[in-house]
Amino acid sequence: MDQVASKDTKYQLEQIKEIIQKTDNSRDQKLQEVCEVLSREEPAFDWVGFYIVDPDAQRELVLGPFVGAPTEHTRIAFGKGICGQAAETNETFVVQDVHEADNYLSCSALVRSEIVVPIKKKGEFIAELDIDSHTKNAITDRHRSLLEKVCGLVSELF
Ligand code: SME
Repeated sequence: MDQVASKDTKYQLEQIKEIIQKTDNSRDQKLQEVCEVLSREEPAFDWVGFYIVDPDAQRELVLGPFVGAPTEHTRIAFGKGICGQAAETNETFVVQDVHEADNYLSCSALVRSEIVVPIKKKGEFIAELDIDSHTKNAITDRHRSLLEKVCGLVSELF
């Protein structure tokens, strides 16, 4: 990680900490603002959104706050697509070329790479952060590290 990148990451995490600490906003408002920061700060991120485990359904994710084009995938079963696989394994899932992925749910023909990071509460999977890029091979180690830290912070909201 170069110096500029780590400075950027620190600044982004500071902004996200502030958003999470704002007392008068709802969880969804905070999640929306987190999406906005990531989308604004990272040129490679073309769609940024949260999927949350539906407490009323068996092993199903429901779309939460997001920034980017509307998606038809507002509910995703565990195991389906990249999002559902991350939910099942409770691990970060990176796809550098979605054209090569066989269990993938397309949101837009423009999407080329994707990262999904689980959000855990006491180790249990409760939600995830999903990010799409229109650029192939766009997801870097710095992105992964930043997003895993963001998800650690965001888990406080659940
Ligand atoms: N591509 C995802 C579906 C969600 S959209 O990208 C917003 C997947 O394969 O699970």
